Amino acid sequence: MSAALRVAVVGAGPAGAYAAERLVERPGVEVELFERLPTPWGLVRAGVAPDHPETKDVTQAFQWTASDRAVRMHLNVEVGRDVSAEDLAAHHHAVIYTVGAPTDRRLGIPGEDLPGSHASTALVAWYNGHPGARDLGIDLSGTRAVVVGNGNVALDVARILTLPVEVLRRTDIADHALDVLGDSAVEEVVVLGRRGAAQAAFTTPELLALSHLPGVDVRVDAEPSELDDGSRATTPGRPPDYAVGLKLDLLRALSVREPTGAPRRIVLRFLASPVELVGDTAVERLRIARNELVQDEDGRVGAQPTDRIDELEAGLVLRSIGYRGEALPGVPFDPTAGRIPNDRGAVVDPATGKTVPGLFTAGWIKRGPTGVIGTNKVCARETVDRLLADHAAGRLPAPRGGRRELDELLRRQVPEALGLDHWRRLDEHERRTGAPQGRPRVKVTEVDEMLRVAHAPESAASR
Ligand SMILES: Cc1cc2nc3c(=O)[nH]c(=O)nc-3n(C[C@H](O)[C@H](O)[C@H](O)COP(=O)(O)OP(=O)(O)OC[C@H]3O[C@@H](n4cnc5c(N)ncnc54)[C@H](O)[C@@H]3O)c2cc1C
Ligand SMILES: NC(=O)c1ccc[n+]([C@@H]2O[C@H](COP(=O)([O-])OP(=O)(O)OC[C@H]3O[C@@H](n4cnc5c(N)ncnc54)[C@H](OP(=O)(O)O)[C@@H]3O)[C@@H](O)[C@H]2O)c1
Repeated sequence: MSAALRVAVVGAGPAGAYAAERLVERPGVEVELFERLPTPWGLVRAGVAPDHPETKDVTQAFQWTASDRAVRMHLNVEVGRDVSAEDLAAHHHAVIYTVGAPTDRRLGIPGEDLPGSHASTALVAWYNGHPGARDLGIDLSGTRAVVVGNGNVALDVARILTLPVEVLRRTDIADHALDVLGDSAVEEVVVLGRRGAAQAAFTTPELLALSHLPGVDVRVDAEPSELDDGSRATTPGRPPDYAVGLKLDLLRALSVREPTGAPRRIVLRFLASPVELVGDTAVERLRIARNELVQDEDGRVGAQPTDRIDELEAGLVLRSIGYRGEALPGVPFDPTAGRIPNDRGAVVDPATGKTVPGLFTAGWIKRGPTGVIGTNKVCARETVDRLLADHAAGRLPAPRGGRRELDELLRRQVPEALGLDHWRRLDEHERRTGAPQGRPRVKVTEVDEMLRVAHAPESAASR
């Protein structure tokens, strides 16, 4: 066995890629990067909106890291199904779990499971061509859609539902989504925030981008008092937040903007929470409580429903209220927080309260589902630096096997595993297919087809 420090990284999203990048800065490290999909880069491929291609340029840096001689990619390998956490622990000094937060949170209201009610997590995966979301069965025959939640994902979804299909046709949006969006009857998307405008989680640049969409009017349906400076006195003693001030300025400007008569509109409403989705066989309308703001002892501003209930007709409801982490067999998990319990990236066993030697975590599954791509760089560095300190102090368990033994195990248990060269072939194929259409790529969205392209000789892959 070599004398290298062997580290498995599970999940090739931003956190996994940044962890690998930090690790290979050190000589004498071997990184095995595992990813359950045949495609790497996590939510950069399957989350970031198709009309934001420049955001996805970060994958060039990830690809650069993956090309480092010290890194090997094992795509199409699901840890917990194809190989176990114990298998990985046996073949590495340390394992870093960077598996993200793939599932959704629920509103917990009657009617939530009616057809026509979906999680934004599913819609986002569907329009971005995640192979697990092809058959979502989204129905855009109604004229109004409602997005519940006030984060950047809510704005992404509102944008994709309203952008002219000619704009989307120039992106890498999945072809199946393009077909459905091309026939969409949606004219209005109402975005509901449960707290006030000043507490909205979306960021000012994303709001600004929304206000410049072609063919879309943005309406702010709020009383002037909901948007005045008093509304941002959120936390006593906290100095005024410059970014919140800008956001309110922009919302005020939008609230008095005359409609241009554009064919579609996005309506922003605040202090509103659905309490029931109503319909016989599918969602037909929402019952929405008008909220008021209340402050707890710590000064945090929350929403409390009043007696006022409004009704709003809609054929599609998307809850965009955050992502959620899932447990992985053999890895500690905090079901309440939806995260792997950890101390600055070192996994903590809840039974003992102590860190588990050789077990680490980074990204959304470590911190919870917030933060932009770059946040994961800082997060992954913290974890890797902790790991390297443990290595220097002799606190990492010695593996029973090295690269050779791992390869034998993978050959036996996951013959369909793909490597970096396979991904390069698939990547190249998608780009080549997109070029004549003026698109960055045409995504392959079925696993069998991905495998076919990844294994095909260069010339056959393009057929
Ligand atoms: C809809 C949406 C849009 C966004 N847009 C932007 C944006 O425009 N700009 C920006 O800066 N940030 C954006 N973000 C935030 C950014 O995507 C996240 O901060 C980042 O992706 C989190 O990285 P991660 O590595 O923790 O998780 P992920 O990106 O989710 O990566 C986790 C990876 O682990 C893999 N995995 C999971 N389980 C297993 C397993 N058992 N075995 C092997 N592999 C596994 C997954 O397939 C995935 O590839 C967006 C987020 C969302 C949800
Ligand atoms: N372009 C970009 O840079 C971009 C794009 C997409 C995503 N991202 C990032 O990805 C991360 C995840 O985004 P996100 O939008 O999923 O999460 P988020 O920013 O945490 O927003 C979640 C929203 O859901 C609301 N919410 C939660 N529970 C609710 C409930 N029961 N009823 C009604 N509303 C509820 C929250 O309101 P409260 O505030 O009241 O809890 C909040 O408005 C964020 O950090 C985001 O910035 C970035």
